[in-house]
Amino acid sequence: MENKIPWYHKTSIYHIYPRSFKDSNGDGIGDLQGIIQKLDYIHDLGFESIWSSPFFASPQVDFGYDISDYKNTSPEFGTLDDALQLIEEVHQRGMRIIFDLVLNHTSDEHPWFKESRSSRDNSKADWYLWRDKPNNWNSMTGGNGWHYAKERRQYYWCSFLPFQPDLNWRDPEVKQTMFDIARFWLGKGVDGFRLDIFNTIYKDAEFRDNPFTFKLAPTPDDPSGYFQKMQYSQDQPESFELAKEFRQVCEEFGDKLTVGEITAKRNIVRRFAGDEKNDGLALAFDFEMLEFKFTAEFFRRLIGDIETHFHPPFMPVYVFSNLDKRRSIHRLGNDVRKAKLLHMLQLTMRGVPCMYYGEEIGMTNLKLPFNTALDPIPHKYKHLPRFIFDLLDVTVNRDEVRTPMQWDGTKNAGFSSAEKAWLPVHPNYMHVNVESESKDGKSLLNTIKTLMKFRSENPAILEGSFEFLEGLPTGVLGYARETDGQKLLALLNFAEKAQDVKLNFSEAVYRLTVRDEAQDGSAHLNGFGGLILSA
Ligand code: GLC
Repeated sequence: MENKIPWYHKTSIYHIYPRSFKDSNGDGIGDLQGIIQKLDYIHDLGFESIWSSPFFASPQVDFGYDISDYKNTSPEFGTLDDALQLIEEVHQRGMRIIFDLVLNHTSDEHPWFKESRSSRDNSKADWYLWRDKPNNWNSMTGGNGWHYAKERRQYYWCSFLPFQPDLNWRDPEVKQTMFDIARFWLGKGVDGFRLDIFNTIYKDAEFRDNPFTFKLAPTPDDPSGYFQKMQYSQDQPESFELAKEFRQVCEEFGDKLTVGEITAKRNIVRRFAGDEKNDGLALAFDFEMLEFKFTAEFFRRLIGDIETHFHPPFMPVYVFSNLDKRRSIHRLGNDVRKAKLLHMLQLTMRGVPCMYYGEEIGMTNLKLPFNTALDPIPHKYKHLPRFIFDLLDVTVNRDEVRTPMQWDGTKNAGFSSAEKAWLPVHPNYMHVNVESESKDGKSLLNTIKTLMKFRSENPAILEGSFEFLEGLPTGVLGYARETDGQKLLALLNFAEKAQDVKLNFSEAVYRLTVRDEAQDGSAHLNGFGGLILSA
């Protein structure tokens, strides 16, 4: 029978922040050759796809999310040839790579913006969003998002930070140019794109004021906050259309992976994936899970809702850490037992797992002061006391989740031979590192490796259906994954105490902790233990 599930719905994604992954030339900054050196590591870990955060030409004020030339690299990361070599070396290993495309905005140092701001009648005058008078819109990072340019005596709009002016996608030339940039990289063999703040690309054509809301801070499923509902600055009908158009541009080059960064309610996120055919973005992140609670009840509700919205032919993405939010193990009080169970869920669920570099070894947040932050965001908030953000449980200083990858116990954790890496290395690197965890059969790293292998060998996990198991003890989450010829039952104990579960099954095929046992229709689960049974 022909397999109908496309590759990008069965894949697994390893997310690299290139600045922090591996420095090959000793300047303290990670680079493309560094990634190439570590491809065998990622392959060995079992990931098929790599998503690299941007390495394009950029003044690096938002570390690459402010692009000044989309068809070139920033010198600290390497050359265009290095980027092409990266694509080729990934493919040689039977893997795939997606690049990070920032379609919403450029750097204010992009020649397009320099020209656009120079006068009201240049050839790029309409390429950005210019207004004589600002409306009431807030930016996603808080505060007025309109900024004055004296050359034009007008204001330009920035969804994110003041040096990231939004492009005007209603100008057909802008749209064609951005599509051609995608085609440029697709033509070089890239397997798709992660699409930065995709749901903000179109703004209301009439720039109507956003309405008031009592909501104080943005949440992972709703960017409204600072007392403003983002009704007219995000999720416009044209953006849903764009998802389909962009998908078609990609398909000129075959089956490509498109994954959208969309901060919105789940029903909206789903609309970006298209109509019943999944003819919009192939995948979209779900950010509620970045702020997961470690309970069976939380995941039961979350997964239930995801399955309602992202039922086949849609495929959800399971992601617990990224470059902007606190690391998953930090949220778990740095408890490795809990991290193992979390990733067991991630890697056996119906969905594409996306793992942030270092998550596989349990790299955690490094608390750093706001006033010396390299990340531009905390500088907006440094006059406020830090405890407010700790209480709100938000990551403001994103440096804290972008520290160098911990490869071994040597200087700079083996990340760089420089005197000083661009960000400090987490002091726990002496024991939290790839080398030492590789040697420990029970480490988080080896658990993830085993789970990745298990995933790749079991079609029920890669392409099977999903169903909850009912009647389980409190604290235990259970589900069945089934495909033609294979049915697996997963039992995950989110409680610290051991629990027994009665079930019909033939054998235990995966045990998360050594003492988990299954016999005679009764499964014994350790605290934070997990089991996979063959039905
Ligand atoms: C996305 C990225 C973030 C970046 C922002 C602006 O949210 O994940 O790191 O700063 O977009 O491009």
